[in-house]
Amino acid sequence: MKVINKPEELQKIIEELKKEGKNVGFVPTMGALHLGHVSLIKKSVLQNDITVVSVYVNPIQFGPNEDYEKYPRPIEKDIKVCQDNKVDFLFLPTNETLYNKNFSTYIYNNNVSKIMCGITRPTHFQGVCTIVAKLFNIVMPQRAYFGLKDYQQYIIIKQMVEDLNFNIEIVGCPIVREESGIAMSSRNTYLSKEEKVQATGIYKSLCLAKQLFCEGKEIEDIKQVVEENSLKIPNSKIDYIEIRNSKNLQEVTDLDKNIVIAVAVKVGNVRLIDNMVCEK
Ligand code: PAF
Repeated sequence: MKVINKPEELQKIIEELKKEGKNVGFVPTMGALHLGHVSLIKKSVLQNDITVVSVYVNPIQFGPNEDYEKYPRPIEKDIKVCQDNKVDFLFLPTNETLYNKNFSTYIYNNNVSKIMCGITRPTHFQGVCTIVAKLFNIVMPQRAYFGLKDYQQYIIIKQMVEDLNFNIEIVGCPIVREESGIAMSSRNTYLSKEEKVQATGIYKSLCLAKQLFCEGKEIEDIKQVVEENSLKIPNSKIDYIEIRNSKNLQEVTDLDKNIVIAVAVKVGNVRLIDNMVCEK
């Protein structure tokens, strides 16, 4: 595995590999790699000749009072995870190489970025779209892999690729859960032992919601049950509970057959997101 820091160095290598007819798969991450990331890497290795992983904690997707400074950065461990999983190139850019002092061009989604996480994190998806577009221009992959835990991010990236004519297939990969049911996330390291147990209530509420949906219950009733259950999670505060169309995150009616139940809940001081896609 080769570790590369400079965007232009990686671009040159990829251009050469493409001339040789190689397919490139790309897994963008912010590091603190867990089994969810490993599942993305494994899929890319299986489907492409070359796999590139980026590890970069992107400052512009964090709000002023968020966890940019304290976000986990176990880089030696991440390098080993990439090596062990047959990654070909690990891209570790720096703030200086990606955002020079004249940086002033951003990508903004004018629709789906305004709901759900976009309400409490109004500049988050602009930061995500901008960095992902930059990374796409550097890595020039045929396919890019995103975890479905960040469901809204996945829908926004798919929309960006369509709107801006990136010739890249976006592959959404299933949520990987811990045995207890909580969705794997780099931010789970912030949870105390007790909070980890409390956080399992989120998954239990989602499972119940899925069951109710399959039984044909009305959307508003399902939402109410999820809310009641989530309110019972000790030490927690609901940011949102949403039931939306799973293809485009627009509002649903009781006639919709493809929905996603998405939640953001604070357990202690840790904001967790999770979701479940249901199809009738
Ligand atoms: O999902 C993430 O880890 C980040 O939002 C991403 C896509 C790597 C952009 O920084």
